[in-house]
Amino acid sequence: MSTAKLNGQIALVTGGDSGIGKGVALALAEAGAKVVVNYAHHAEAAEEVVKHITDAGGEAFSCKADVSQEAQVQAMFKEVFKQYGTIDILVNNAGLQKDAKFVDMTLDEWNTVIGINLTGQFLCAREAAKEFIRRGVDDTRSRAAGKIICMSSVHEVIPWGGHVNYASSKGGIMMLMKSMAQELAPHKIRVVAIGPGAIQTPINKEAWETPEALNKLLTLIPYNRIGQPEDIGKLAAWLASDDADYITGTTIFSDGGMTLYPGFADNG
Ligand code: BGC
Repeated sequence: MSTAKLNGQIALVTGGDSGIGKGVALALAEAGAKVVVNYAHHAEAAEEVVKHITDAGGEAFSCKADVSQEAQVQAMFKEVFKQYGTIDILVNNAGLQKDAKFVDMTLDEWNTVIGINLTGQFLCAREAAKEFIRRGVDDTRSRAAGKIICMSSVHEVIPWGGHVNYASSKGGIMMLMKSMAQELAPHKIRVVAIGPGAIQTPINKEAWETPEALNKLLTLIPYNRIGQPEDIGKLAAWLASDDADYITGTTIFSDGGMTLYPGFADNG
């Protein structure tokens, strides 16, 4: 059943071909948005998401771009404007992990993660914000001139040994999001972040693929279940809608309580 809260709005979801991005792309389409499914490598996976949306009567197309590359990001936005005319919602979701012990981490592992997770969000948000400012508020679409949703993580606040590049990128996303929100609010642009906890996707397969791994993971989750991409998709659809029109500059965690210091429940 469609809630149609985003009827006719145009959304770009980076990394929309898998994991959380796929869940978000499907949920925005379900809420009535036309969705551009960005991908970096897996054209068939992106096409599958598009097919899912169009089979259900929605509108979507896929668009290849490595979000860490300025020229590719600009070409992607050109394509969005060519096909759909404008944009209402950017979901800055594309991200990856390149884990290593701190002393073994290569500059390449550092740069790749910062490049895609953080610089990629900057490059996409800048192009979206320019278009939101150019168009301004059109209240037949939304009360806001535009919405930017940054995919952060519980690791914007929870330090993560063995993953310092990733945790640094997410801490950076938090301040990118807040600073953009402060600067862009007078233009009626809302900027928010979602902080997912452990969501069952390919990025953290090792943490849930065996019963032992999953049980260990669940000790970090008071609510005692792993999250699903739909948990994040539904939140993104709500945050993008006018029901969340007074929310800007903050991270909403969807983590089953992972940020509640579960180790203190019977300790300290
Ligand atoms: C990471 C996952 C991890 C989760 C909770 C996410 O941001 O990408 O690998 O399972 O945080 O630690």
